Amino acid sequence: MRYLTFMLAGACFSLNALALTPGNEPIQPIEPVEVADPAKVELGKQLFFDPRLSRSGFISCNSCHNLSMGGSDNLTSSIGHNWQQGPINSPTVLNSSMNLAQFWDGRAADLKEQAAGPIANPGEMAFTHDLALDVLRSIPQYQQAFDRVYGKPQITLDEVTDAIAAFEETLVTPGSRFDLWLKGDAKALNDTELAGYRLFKEVGCTACHDGQAVGGNSFQKMGLVMPYATLNPTEGVAGLTGNDADRMKFKVPTLRNVELTYPYFHDGAYWELEEAVDVMARLQLGRELDKVQVEQITAFLKTLTGEQPSFALPILPPSTKATPRPKPFD
Ligand code: HEC
Ligand code: HEC
Repeated sequence: MRYLTFMLAGACFSLNALALTPGNEPIQPIEPVEVADPAKVELGKQLFFDPRLSRSGFISCNSCHNLSMGGSDNLTSSIGHNWQQGPINSPTVLNSSMNLAQFWDGRAADLKEQAAGPIANPGEMAFTHDLALDVLRSIPQYQQAFDRVYGKPQITLDEVTDAIAAFEETLVTPGSRFDLWLKGDAKALNDTELAGYRLFKEVGCTACHDGQAVGGNSFQKMGLVMPYATLNPTEGVAGLTGNDADRMKFKVPTLRNVELTYPYFHDGAYWELEEAVDVMARLQLGRELDKVQVEQITAFLKTLTGEQPSFALPILPPSTKATPRPKPFD
């Protein structure tokens, strides 16, 4: 029956009008979030932007997950405390609430657990949780904000990470042209983009990149058909489990907003989206795509750029006499 409709439609309409039934697509549209607790989200936003959660007083979550740049830093690997070279490419925080777990190797179960990591990571914000709490507790406006949201006398790490996670859950990007198409706007994609989407499904990209986030829902080996050559020593999930079978296994990254989150792969080795598409086709699927096919898939991937989070810049409450001073040059 479906084939028949297909053929009939094909006879009458242009390629563009051949909108497939969105319910049957391997990718689902992102819906806007409904904010349940605006005060908590606002607090989490302040914390996300507050560099005083770092030893130097200079590095915030936004330094490496810049919301003006697709929630990433557009660097091969991040720059941490004392200009240290980070070990791995910074993934975007956009739509990260949809991930089955956090980090390339999934070592944090969720956003709340993840958020405690960078503050105390010597290669990132290089602080301690106690000192970060001392900073927050020394600032009356923070005390009041935490009190309003959590109703407890003393700010805790649990509350800090809970608020940051609540903010991150709002960082979704609905309204991409692809989502408009999924929702029935046949004109939202041009013929090249639509051909790219067809190819994306046909060659098998959707085996790993599917769902709302077009990824983020499984761990897969990088270099399934052909090994991936990299100078980056990261072993992926094997670094956690010690299992040889998990070597080079990474969380499949989301392809939402992928045109903004270069350079690509865990080692940030590829700057051009076309190159990443070519590498994926060869290494994961054993397929040689020609130039036109690579361009078509790339054109499709660019339709996954959604509405970026937009809000008033959070104004951070000033430090007080009691606030531990930043130590940028220790
Ligand atoms: C110095 C740069 C840097 C800073 C500062 C930083 N991050 Fe990250 N972030 C990274 C890198 C690099 C990774 C990937 C690490 C890995 O997977 O091993 C990451 C991973 C993540 C992830 C997981 C995303 C995914 O798809 O797996 C989230 C969420 C995140 N960071 C949020 C935060 C929050 C919240 C803060 C502030 C408390 C923060 N980051 C501070 C660099 C940074
Ligand atoms: C077998 C699973 C699998 C298949 C099939 C697959 N991918 Fe991937 N994809 C991954 C994994 C795993 C990564 C992360 C690899 C890494 O960083 O080392 C990735 C990364 C990417 C990236 C880089 C994203 C970023 O933010 O760094 C792009 C772009 C991409 N894939 C596109 C595609 C396209 C296009 C296809 C089809 C031609 C495809 N993938 C097929 C598993 C897969």
